[in-house]
Amino acid sequence: MGDGRLNVSVVGSGYVGTVSAACFADLGHNVVCIDIDAQKVDMINRGEPPIYEEGLEELLKKHAGKKIKATSNYHEAVIGTDVSFICVGTPSDAQGNIDLSIIKAASKSLGEAISLKNNYHVVVVKSTVVPETTRKYSDPHNRKSLWQTGRRRFWCSYEPRVFKGRKSRL
Ligand SMILES: NC(=O)c1ccc[n+]([C@@H]2O[C@H](COP(=O)([O-])OP(=O)(O)OC[C@H]3O[C@@H](n4cnc5c(N)ncnc54)[C@H](O)[C@@H]3O)[C@@H](O)[C@H]2O)c1
Repeated sequence: MGDGRLNVSVVGSGYVGTVSAACFADLGHNVVCIDIDAQKVDMINRGEPPIYEEGLEELLKKHAGKKIKATSNYHEAVIGTDVSFICVGTPSDAQGNIDLSIIKAASKSLGEAISLKNNYHVVVVKSTVVPETTRKYSDPHNRKSLWQTGRRRFWCSYEPRVFKGRKSRL
């Protein structure tokens, strides 16, 4: 946009996604929240927080319908934004293995939407994943990659946590 403000989409409107979206909007960025839960989408569009966090309701009321919009339509969200933050859940089982099925489904939908864009799109993984997951699923030479968009794109991950002794179920 040239003035430092970005068009941002946030995938997943739980605790991490909604708080991030509200803070991005309050910093002046235009935000589109994406969630498969229609009830959460409606709540955000009404300025009602789907989770509790101090100060969140105030920010949503201030920005809903202006700097924050919510949808279940990936294409609609991605086509008008420059960067997507993935904030879907990555639950772990009793053994500590991370279940990647939710982030894989969200990444597939995101990749399909990005493939319909003509310009570059940045994807940032905010969901908790173990090292190698991002590379494995974003490497275009990897048969398992979810990012077969057919054009140049990149994503970066900044999850600094360490899960000692645990491994993801890939
Ligand atoms: N990087 C960080 O700073 C940080 C901090 C805390 C947690 N996390 C991680 O962030 C992730 C999200 O945590 P949370 O507590 O917000 O999760 P959550 O379960 O509260 O919210 C996830 C949301 O994603 C939605 N969702 C599920 N599948 C979807 C899909 N295919 N497309 C779009 N939306 C979909 C759900 O409906 C839900 O609203 C977890 O992996 C968590 O470990 C990251």
